[in-house]
Amino acid sequence: MTGRFVLKIGDHLENAETKKYYTERNFSEVAHRYDFITRALSFGRDSAWKRALIALLPSYESPVCVDLACGTGDIAFLLADRYPRGRITGVDITEPMLDIARGRNGHPNVSFANRDMGSLDIASGSVDIVTGGYALRNAPDLGTAIDEISRVLKTSGVAAFLDFSKPDGKIPQKIEYWVLKTWTGLWGTLLHRNHEVYSYIAESLERFPDRARLRKIFESKGFSVIDSRLFFAGVTELLIVQKLRHVSEHSAAAEPA
Ligand SMILES: C[S@@+](CC[C@H](N)C(=O)[O-])C[C@H]1O[C@@H](n2cnc3c(N)ncnc32)[C@H](O)[C@@H]1O
Repeated sequence: MTGRFVLKIGDHLENAETKKYYTERNFSEVAHRYDFITRALSFGRDSAWKRALIALLPSYESPVCVDLACGTGDIAFLLADRYPRGRITGVDITEPMLDIARGRNGHPNVSFANRDMGSLDIASGSVDIVTGGYALRNAPDLGTAIDEISRVLKTSGVAAFLDFSKPDGKIPQKIEYWVLKTWTGLWGTLLHRNHEVYSYIAESLERFPDRARLRKIFESKGFSVIDSRLFFAGVTELLIVQKLRHVSEHSAAAEPA
C-alpha cells in the first residue's frame, strides 16, 4: 500500500469502467482487514449466512463450481468442504484479496483466478453451481454479469447469492441507507481514517435493484427463483436461482422497468 486511500466514491459508481476501477482500488485498500471487518459489520453473522448458502445448494457428487468475487475465499472453501470431489474456482479482480485466498487454501480442488465476473473465460454450459458472496452488487454492469452466469451454467444449474438487499419502498430504503452509511462510515473512520471505504456498501446498494426488481431481472434472463432467506430484517438476503434456459443478449426481453 502506498499511503492513505483517498479515492472518492463521487461518480465512480455511475459507469462500468470507473466502477470496476474504484472497486479494485477500494478492495486492495481493505484486503488486509477484510475478514475482520466482514465479521464486525455483520455482528459476527457473516459466517453463519455463508454456511446457510452452502446448506441450501443441491446435492451433487462432483460439481463444477465457480465462486464469483471470491475475495479471501470463504465460500470457495465451504464449497470444497461440501463437495470434496467437486472442482471449485474462485474468481476476483483484486490481487491482494486473491493473495489472501491463495495463502489460506489447503484444498487440492480449489483454485483462484483473476477474472472479472462479467467475462469469466470459462466454457459455455460447463458449470453446475455459481455462488457469490457480496458479489453482484459489485458487478461493473449487472446485466452483463447475469448474462455471463447464464452462459457458463448448465441448464438447470443453480446460482446462489448472499448480499445486502434493498427493500421495496422509498422510506425503508432511505432508512437502510442511512443506517448502513453511518455504521460502515464509523468503521472506515476508525480503521482507515476514511469513512468512504466501507460506506461504499451503502452507495453501491443505493444504485442496485431492490429485491423485487432483482428477481424480475433474473426471470427476464431465463432464471427461476427457487429460494430466498432474509437476515437482519432483510438487510441481507440469500437468493437462489436456477437456470431454466439461456436467454441470449440479442433475444432478451427489455429489462423490466
Ligand atoms: C465484499 S467482497 C466479497 C468477498 C467474498 N465473496 C465474501 O463473501 O466474503 C467483494 C469482492 O468483489 C470483488 N470484485 C469487485 N468487482 C469485481 C468484478 N468485476 N469481478 C470479480 N470480482 C470483483 C472485490 O475485489 C472483492 O473481493
